Amino acid sequence: MQQFNFPTLVYFGEDALVELATTIKAKGYQKALLVSDKTLSALGVVASVKSIITQQGIEVIVFDHVHANPIEADVENGAAVFNDQDCDCILALGGGSAMDVAKVIKVAATHPGPLSQYDDAIGGDKRIINAMPPLYAIPTTAGTGSEVGRSGVIILGKSKLKTIIFSPKLMPDIAVLAPQLTTGLPPHITAATGIDAFTHSLEAFLAPGFHPMADGIALQGMRLCIENLDTCVNQGSQIKARGNMQVAAMMGATAFQKGLGMIHSLAHPLSAQHNMHHGLANALLLPESIKYIEQSPLNSEQKQRIESVRQLFTASNLAKNTLSQTCHQWFHSLGITFGLRNYHIDEQHLAALADDAFADPCHQSNIITVSKADLLTVYRRAL
Ligand SMILES: [Fe+2]
Repeated sequence: MQQFNFPTLVYFGEDALVELATTIKAKGYQKALLVSDKTLSALGVVASVKSIITQQGIEVIVFDHVHANPIEADVENGAAVFNDQDCDCILALGGGSAMDVAKVIKVAATHPGPLSQYDDAIGGDKRIINAMPPLYAIPTTAGTGSEVGRSGVIILGKSKLKTIIFSPKLMPDIAVLAPQLTTGLPPHITAATGIDAFTHSLEAFLAPGFHPMADGIALQGMRLCIENLDTCVNQGSQIKARGNMQVAAMMGATAFQKGLGMIHSLAHPLSAQHNMHHGLANALLLPESIKYIEQSPLNSEQKQRIESVRQLFTASNLAKNTLSQTCHQWFHSLGITFGLRNYHIDEQHLAALADDAFADPCHQSNIITVSKADLLTVYRRAL
C-alpha cells in the first residue's frame, strides 16, 4: 500500500480496497451508495467490492443501473436512492460511465433540478455551492483516468444532448487503484483502453503551452504504457503490469489538463455516430494523425517533441524510423486491425465525421493547427 497526492489522494495496491474500507469507517461514514453497472454485477465484481466494504461494518446500497453512455435518468434515479436510503458517501465502481454518473449524483442529491442548469457551457459550476458527500472512485479499467478527473458527461433526457458538468468539487476524494480488478479484462478491451491512456499522455505532451509538470507526467505515462501494455494484453493476470497500466491511465488523465489534440477530435465522432469504442477509435486514427503532423512544416521544438516520444520506444526495441510507423507497428502487435472500412465506415460517412471532428474542441490544443479539410484527409487515409 502506497499513498500519494497529486492532487487526488491515491490508494494503490492489492490492499487498497481494505484500506478504503478502513478510511470510510474512521471518517464515521455508515452507509455508502455503490454506483456501478449490470455487467460488473453479473461478473461478481460488485459483490466482491461490497463484501470488502461491509466487513468494516459499513452498509452498502448497490445502484447498478448506469448505462454505457450515461443518461439523465441514471443520475436522477441514483440520487433518489442516495436520499431515500440516507446514504452518506458514494463509491464509483467501473469505467468512465460509472465515475461520471457518481460525480453528477453528488450534485443532483444535494442541489435542485434540472441538471441542465449545471452545464459547464453556461457557467453551471457557480451553482454547485452546497455541501456534497465524499466520492471514492474505484476504476475497473486502465484507460480513461476518470478517477482523477473533475467532470461528468451526461446525455440530457429532453434534448438528447451531452451536458458536461465540470467543477473541482466533483474530483473524487480518493482514487482507489486495485490492480486485481482489471485482470479479468479481455485482451481487445485491455489494448483499446490502454491505447486511450497512451493517447492522453501523447497528446498532452505534444500540446503547445508551458506545463512542465504535465510534460513530465505524460512522458512517464507513455513509458509505462510502452513497457506494460503488451504484458497486460498477452498475460492478463500479471498483476504488476496491470498495476502499472492503472497508474499510466491515471497519469494520462492528470497530464491532459494541458490539452489534447486532433486524435481525440477525430475519435469522438466515431463513437457518437458509429458507437465505436473510444480507445479503438484513438488506435485507428493515431498513426495517420501523427504521420500528417510529421509531414507538416514543423519548427525545431515540435520536431524535438515528436522525436522524444519516438525515443521512448528504443528501450523496448519497438522504435521504427518515424513515430507514426512505430505506433502503427506497436498497435498492430497489440491486436489492432487497422482500416475504418473494417468497422463499416465508408467514404460516404467521412464528411459528417469531419464536421463533428472540427466542432470538437480537442484539436484546438493540437501541436499544429488543423482545418476541417485536414481532418477529412486523415479520415480518408485511415479508411
Ligand atoms: Fe480518451
